[in-house]
Amino acid sequence: MKNVIICGAPGSGKGTQSDLIIKKYNLKHFSTGDLLRKEIADGTELGKSANTYISAGQLVPDDVIIGMIANKLDSLDKTTVKGIILDGFPRTLAQAEALEKMLEERGEQTDVLIDLDVKEEELINRLLLRGQTSGRSDDNLETIQKRLNVYYNQTRPVSEYYKAKGKYAAIHGMGTIEEIFGRISEVLD
Ligand code: AP5
Ligand code: MG
Repeated sequence: MKNVIICGAPGSGKGTQSDLIIKKYNLKHFSTGDLLRKEIADGTELGKSANTYISAGQLVPDDVIIGMIANKLDSLDKTTVKGIILDGFPRTLAQAEALEKMLEERGEQTDVLIDLDVKEEELINRLLLRGQTSGRSDDNLETIQKRLNVYYNQTRPVSEYYKAKGKYAAIHGMGTIEEIFGRISEVLD
């Protein structure tokens, strides 16, 4: 399988680019943010607990997230799926280490981490614009600042982890959606 991590700050375009990648490369999209928002919409206990973290711009505890990904990996039909794209996961070093262990146990590994690099001013503009219609409880200036701090402090080390393994590709994440997708395609091809 082709197993890809798409990483980057809030608003860097992980979800937007994942939608294009899954179509071109026939990968399964695992977005922990989308999975958590579905739990919230369904009113589950997990969703209620996750909502307090998300609204505060904080990370949901590692064990909850790792369990969710393990379930998704177990539900994969390897005869039809060509690989996975992990969007918004791993976000901490502990999650990265757990992911590599889970993949190894299933005879798989991460091929590359794609790191979308976008200027902070652009990130904030994109998220505030989306906040006008998204209904996301974390798309307001105060929470966006907190999400950015969490990203710089807790998620940046994940990039270093994959850099050390020689599985890292930085992508210039400014420009049109198509331009950025072209840059990602060059790496994946
Ligand atoms: P998550 O849902 O992953 O949110 P995020 O990382 O904050 O990022 P976004 O989804 O907001 O942005 P994106 O990079 O996907 O960009 P998008 O394509 O949407 O996580 C939310 C929360 O859930 C976390 O804060 C945490 O609480 C929890 N969580 C999730 N995963 C977790 C984990 N692993 N561990 C612990 N907690 C976890 O684009 C953004 C906007 O920009 C869109 O409106 C889009 O249309 C626009 N746009 C995209 N590309 C361009 C472009 N090239 N030019 C102009 N506009 C563009
Ligand atoms: Mg997203």
